[in-house]
Amino acid sequence: MTTPTQIHPRLQVVGHPLLAVHLTRLRDEATGHGAFRQTLDAAASFLVAAALADLSTEAVTVRTPLQAATGARLSRPVALVPILRAGLGMVDAALRLVPDAAVWHLGLYRDEATLEAVPYYNRLQPGQLAGCTVLVLDPMLATAGSAIAALGQLRLAGAADLRLVALVAAPEGLTHLATQAPEVPVTVAAVDERLSHTGDPWPAGYIMPGLGDAGDRQFGTH
Ligand code: PRP
Ligand code: URA
Repeated sequence: MTTPTQIHPRLQVVGHPLLAVHLTRLRDEATGHGAFRQTLDAAASFLVAAALADLSTEAVTVRTPLQAATGARLSRPVALVPILRAGLGMVDAALRLVPDAAVWHLGLYRDEATLEAVPYYNRLQPGQLAGCTVLVLDPMLATAGSAIAALGQLRLAGAADLRLVALVAAPEGLTHLATQAPEVPVTVAAVDERLSHTGDPWPAGYIMPGLGDAGDRQFGTH
């Protein structure tokens, strides 16, 4: 059996029974847009918490009504980067866990013929993310073209501590990512069977069994 780190050296597959139940509901074609958004939000909580489990903190002292207590605060700011459109559905869950995080949107879509990622929105300036922990949010990691393009844009903005969070990944995409960004931790709920290709009922480049088009299923649009 292939272990996660044989596919990508920093791959973490989160195992939690509730996450498995959420993922199954997301895969189910009978799940409508409202339930899909709600369930993606629930699943994202597990994934974001796991992706940030090693965040560094520093000691801070507060006063309770009774006396002083030593606690923790984050050592560095966190920036969330949802990839439009589908990554939007993971932002609220991440903000509940890290309310002070900045949110930088990156617009990328896949060209349907070439499967290349096409950038269309990025307001980041050089150096803007220096010193931040940067969490890229996108439920689907298929060929990994979008993730790799996003990482390139984020590095230009000075990001060094980068992490990817996806719900479902294809082995092909993880292998591609391992050649381009082996140092970037990747947190997922599942590694699926394969990408679709010509001859499958779906167009090429979809995750099988996957859950279909995550953007379309959340928003009811194409
Ligand atoms: C989907 C998904 C990822 C990308 C994954 O977005 O949300 O961003 O495809 O595919 P890849 O790993 O092969 O790059 P899509 O391009 O469909 O845009 P959308 O979210 O606006 O529908
Ligand atoms: N994008 C999706 O939304 N789903 C896939 O299966 C592949 C790319």
